[in-house]
Amino acid sequence: MLSFGEMLVAEYRKKNQLEFQKMFQLQKSFHLHSSRGIILHDDLVGQPANCFRKTNKGFPIFIRRASLEDYVLHMKRGPEIIYPKDAATMLMMMDVMEGDCVLESGSGSGGMSLFLSRAVGAKGSVLSVEVREDHYTIAVKNYRNWRTSWALRRGEEWPDNVQFENTDLCTASSILTGRGFHSVALDLLSPHLVLPSVLPHLHPGGICVLYIVNITQVVALLEGLRCSALPCQCERIIEVPVRDWVLTPALKKNGEYCTIKAPRLDESLRQKDETSDESEDDDVGPSFRSIPYIARPHPEQLNHTAFLVKLRKFER
Ligand SMILES: C[S@@+](CC[C@H](N)C(=O)[O-])C[C@H]1O[C@@H](n2cnc3c(N)ncnc32)[C@H](O)[C@@H]1O
Repeated sequence: MLSFGEMLVAEYRKKNQLEFQKMFQLQKSFHLHSSRGIILHDDLVGQPANCFRKTNKGFPIFIRRASLEDYVLHMKRGPEIIYPKDAATMLMMMDVMEGDCVLESGSGSGGMSLFLSRAVGAKGSVLSVEVREDHYTIAVKNYRNWRTSWALRRGEEWPDNVQFENTDLCTASSILTGRGFHSVALDLLSPHLVLPSVLPHLHPGGICVLYIVNITQVVALLEGLRCSALPCQCERIIEVPVRDWVLTPALKKNGEYCTIKAPRLDESLRQKDETSDESEDDDVGPSFRSIPYIARPHPEQLNHTAFLVKLRKFER
């Protein structure tokens, strides 16, 4: 049952398309506002999740608990986050496992920190380094809010496994000394400047994945690597395209289903068809596969986010 403090998502769809989506924290005496009307937070407490609830105007809105992906996409942002599609691929490229020790920088809004926290689990640890104090504060807050909401939802603690540090990674030797990392995730403007301080702490064979927005920055990185002769090789440079599709039964302007016109049958087949016992079920509209579908990429897409660059440390 839902309780105050939980992170929820309210949404509704029209013609199979998401028309409204909002993440909110359930709070005493608060209201959820939408173009379909208002729902009082107090009315949701004690109710099950994953149900339609009626607004004061009588329209149904679907209420569910926020996934980590929802939370990261909707939480308060400072700088731009690493999008979940890229974060998931970065975790795979880093080969992150439960129990790993991972370094991340910059913390930014704390999006990647949360995905790393989940991946390494209670036995692992994440060191997240952020040079700007305002970003550091946002990242810590977002991490804490998610942990609080999780504890309310599950009755158990989200792992307290991320150590946020407010410092410049280029000069963070006092924090890094004595530490070894299984992998590293970097999302900052000039990664080639921080690699000399990071690589000595990455285990041999360990992976450093960089999230880089412009291809010219990737070139600068590779040039930096070439000139500094650091012990790492670039193994891959990729983009992660994800395309949303519109896939929905075609409707006429009056709201009725369009229908596919059957090919003309020859006379013998027609007679057989007419004597058939099968009857159409009026409640579900035209029979199976007689409705044409709209099926095309969604017109609003998340386009380019970043290039993911995979570096592996080697032993000399
Ligand atoms: C785009 S944001 C990171 C967003 C983060 N990955 C997320 O998912 O929320 C880049 C961050 O790197 C930080 N940064 C840049 N150079 C840095 C450095 N040398 N050491 C630590 N942080 C740095 C910036 O202040 C900024 O907050």
